[in-house]
Amino acid sequence: MNAVLEEILRSGYATGSSGERIAVHSQISREEGEFLQQIVATVRPKVSLEIGLAYGVSSLFICDALAAVGAERHIVIDPHQFEVPAEFVTADPESTRGGFGVIGLRNLRAAGFEALVEFHALPSHIALPRLLEAGRRIDFAFIDGWHTFDYVMVDFFTSTSFCGLAESLPSTTFTIRASENSAGTS
Ligand SMILES: C[S@@+](CC[C@H](N)C(=O)[O-])C[C@H]1O[C@@H](n2cnc3c(N)ncnc32)[C@H](O)[C@@H]1O
Repeated sequence: MNAVLEEILRSGYATGSSGERIAVHSQISREEGEFLQQIVATVRPKVSLEIGLAYGVSSLFICDALAAVGAERHIVIDPHQFEVPAEFVTADPESTRGGFGVIGLRNLRAAGFEALVEFHALPSHIALPRLLEAGRRIDFAFIDGWHTFDYVMVDFFTSTSFCGLAESLPSTTFTIRASENSAGTS
C-alpha cells in the first residue's frame, strides 16, 4: 500500500496546501478499497474511470492496484476539487461544502500517480459525453459522485456507452457505491 493512503487510513487526516491537517470525510472504507483492488487485479484494466475524487482515498486504492497490473490511464472526474473562492465563503460552514482544496490531487501526486491519472474538473454529466465523443474506451469504472438516483443513473448509462458494454460485457466491470457504507458490482 502507498504511504499516503496508509497515513490517511491510520490517522484519518490529510495535509492541506499550507500544511494544515484536514479531517478526511466522505471516503470509502478500507474494506471497500480492498474490494475494489481485488476487482482491478481480476479485470486488469488498461484504462479505468472514477467519478468522485474527494480527498483521493478510493483513487489511491485503485491506483495502487492499477500500477500493479500495468494500467495505462486512470480517468478521474470531480467538479469540486478546487477551493471555493473566498468571496463566496460565509460564516456558514455549509457554504464551503464540496470544496476539497485540491487535496485529492495532491495526494495522488505525493503517492507518485500523476502520470497515471487524467483529471477532469467537471460534473460527470458534462465530462462523460465529452470522453465518449472523443472516442475514449474504459475497462473498469467506479461511480462515487453525486449520490442521487438521477446522477447515478446518468453516470452508469453514459459510462456503459463509452466502454462499449454490449460487445465487451464479460471483460468490463462497473462498481457503484450505493451508499456511504456499501459498494456493489454489476
Ligand atoms: C462520496 S465523495 C467521493 C469519495 C471518494 N470516492 C473517496 O473514496 O475518497 C463524492 C464526490 O463526488 C463529487 N461530485 C459531486 N457532484 C459531482 C458530479 N456532478 N460529478 C462528479 N463528481 C461529483 C464530490 O465533489 C465528491 O468529491
